[in-house]
Order: sequence, then structure tokens, then C-alpha cells
Amino acid sequence: MCYAIPGKVVELNGRHAVIDYFGERRQAYTDLTRPSPGDYVYAQGGFVIQTVPAQEALAILADWQELFFRLQQTDQKLAQRKRTLHEQANAVRQQFQGNSCCVHGILEFSNYCRNNCLYCGIRKDNRKLQRYRMSEQEILQAVEYAVNQLGFRALVLQSGEDFWYSEAKLCRIVREIRARFSVLIFLSLGERPRATYHKLYEAGARGALIRFETSDAEQYKKIKPESTLADRLGLIKDLRDLGYLIISGFLMGLPDPTAGVAQSGPRGQNGRNVLADIKRTAESGAEMFSFGPFIPHPETPLAAARGPRLATVLNAIAQARLMYPTAKILVTTALETLDPAQGARAGLMAGANSLMINITPQKYRRLYEIYPNRAGVEDDTPKRIDKLLELLHALGRAPTDIGVS
Ligand code: 5AD
Repeated sequence: MCYAIPGKVVELNGRHAVIDYFGERRQAYTDLTRPSPGDYVYAQGGFVIQTVPAQEALAILADWQELFFRLQQTDQKLAQRKRTLHEQANAVRQQFQGNSCCVHGILEFSNYCRNNCLYCGIRKDNRKLQRYRMSEQEILQAVEYAVNQLGFRALVLQSGEDFWYSEAKLCRIVREIRARFSVLIFLSLGERPRATYHKLYEAGARGALIRFETSDAEQYKKIKPESTLADRLGLIKDLRDLGYLIISGFLMGLPDPTAGVAQSGPRGQNGRNVLADIKRTAESGAEMFSFGPFIPHPETPLAAARGPRLATVLNAIAQARLMYPTAKILVTTALETLDPAQGARAGLMAGANSLMINITPQKYRRLYEIYPNRAGVEDDTPKRIDKLLELLHALGRAPTDIGVS
């Protein structure tokens, strides 16, 4: 199964290739892979990542052709209703972003963390958690399975802030993945020196997933005692300047830790600062928005707090879509956790158009416990993919990421 449609390069235009997909033209950068006019290629996140032999591409396109237009029709039909907030957001998503839906894989390679964020289950002081680190070889094996067997073309490598993985080690891993596999690499490693991220870019990483968690500086200091909002936002800006594609966002419904944990309090999140956080996400230059509900973890200082309801999160997705029609907006795993049966569908029908699938090996996955009962932890990955594809097909979405229009 594959998560991108091959397109034909019709023109090279400076650093860009112009790619044709069934008559639609998109652009993608050519610095990772340089195709020639007439080549068939896969693009992800606006980067050409692989050229495909013409015969293979034509066979895949023949399969896709009919499906491609059928999915578009289903999507258009479902997007005609515009009565509720969610329906309006869905119509805007359809109008500005079409039916393409990014499906990235995420590999959680270490649950060690040097930080003590108040909300997070893998915080340093959670001594009850069994810790793990994947070796370089285990990481490469997991990537090989995800790319060659499961067909992923964009992967997020995520960990706690774990400096056991030195700059040199991380660069080696990224370089090795790039050398062996045609895949777009996103990093989600937390705060590292700008110079390290620069080297990782040179090694071949092109995306960074880094949330700022809250745009309220005072609240930030309380819930993430080891850093400041200014440092975090500064780093996100640096990453963008280095050329990384940014995925960023925040946690919804974080309580005010000084106001008594069970309530929002003056420095907790409410409707007004959700909008501020959405705006901040856009201002960070994120091309993909990732915001999800805070879910309390029993081994943290916020164990007794309550997170937001599903409806609150869905409304935020819809608001973000109406404010930023061309953004990619993720259905987060935390949202799915609030309603494992309907969460993903509801998010996709409220303006969202991206998803991630966990590809962490089973034996480690349950240990990456940032919050309890994460959706998909028990699922077999191929089954999870099948279920998701079924959902996407029912909604008329094409699981693809075909460059920038
Ligand atoms: N509930 C929901 N999301 C959480 N994260 C960390 N802890 C929690 C929690 N208790 C999120 C943070 C972080 C991402 C990797 O996981 O937003 O950026």
C-alpha cells in the first residue's frame, strides 16, 4: 500500500519541479532528489523524495485513476452541507485543500526525558515508568518495515529529550535512513542546539514537529519549568529559517497548576486563549497544525485535573480551519483517545486533513506513555492502516501528500 500518488515532472523551475497529477499541477523542491523532465516521482511535504520507473508509475496510476476521481466526488458530496460549524469548516477544507490527506508514520524511539513537564507521563520524575531506548539498528529495522512493507513516505522520529542520542548519533541515523530509504524525515526531539538541527538538516532531515504547548508565557513557565516560551518560539523560528517544514501546536485544556488542579483558573486554557494559541501556531510558520487535548496522567502533578471534552477539541479544529483555510490540520492521537471509535472521523469531518499512524514496535509502544490508554497502542499496525484507509475511502479522502499547489 502506498501513501502517495506518483506524478509526472512536466517542468523544472529553479529549485522546484512542476508535477502533474491527473491534470492538477503541484510544485515540489528538488534538493533531496533531482528528477529530469518526464520522470515520474513521489513527493511528500513539498519535496520530491523519489523517482519511480515509468512502467511502475503507470501501473500505479492506472489503478488510481478511477479511484482518484471517485474519492473526489464522494468528498465533494459530503462537503455540500454547510449548516453547522463543523460542516462549514469541512466545506472550507474541501474548497482550499481538496481531498488529500497526509498520513505520516511516527516512531517513538526513546522514552527517556531530561525534563519534568507537569502534564507529561514520560517526565523524568516518573520513576514507575519502565524506560527504553531503541538501538540504531532497531530504528533502521523499524524504518525499513514502515517504508518497504507498509509504504510510508513520511516518518516522524520522536523521543523524549534524551541526550544519550548525541548529535553525531542522530546525524548518523538520519543519514543512514536517507541513504537506504526514500522517505521524508521529520524530527521530534525537543530542544537541541540550533547547530545540531543544522547538522541534522544537512544529514537529510526536512521536517520538525515541535509544539509550543501554550502561548501564555506565565503558564508555560509553570507547566514546563525547564524552559521558557521565548526560547521555544525562538527555536521554532530558527528551525523554519534553517528550512525545516514545521509541525507545531499546543495542548488544549491545560489547567492552571497554581489554581488547584481540578479547574482551569486564570492561567488555565479557555475559549479565548484557544484562539490565541491557534493564531500563534500559524505565526510560527507551521504548515501543519498539531493541537490536541491534554489528558491527565496518574503519575504527574496534574493527575487530578480534567482534560477537555471531544466537542471542545472538534470546535477548535473547525475554528482553526475557518481561520487558516490552507493549513494542514492533524487529527491527533490524543483526540482519537477521547473517542477511539468516532474521534478520527469526527476530526476529519470538522476540518482536519492529516493523521499519524504509530509504527513503534509493539513491545515499546505501550511504554511511550505520555498519557494513559493512548489510542492505537494495542493495534497491529497493518490492521490499523486498513481501518484508516477504509475510513478515508468512506469519506472520499485520498491518503496522499502531493506537493504544494
Ligand atoms: N496529554 C496530551 N498530550 C500530551 N503530551 C505530553 N503529555 C500529554 C498529555 N498528558 C504531548 C505534548 C508533546 C507531545 C509529544 O505530547 O504536547 O508536545
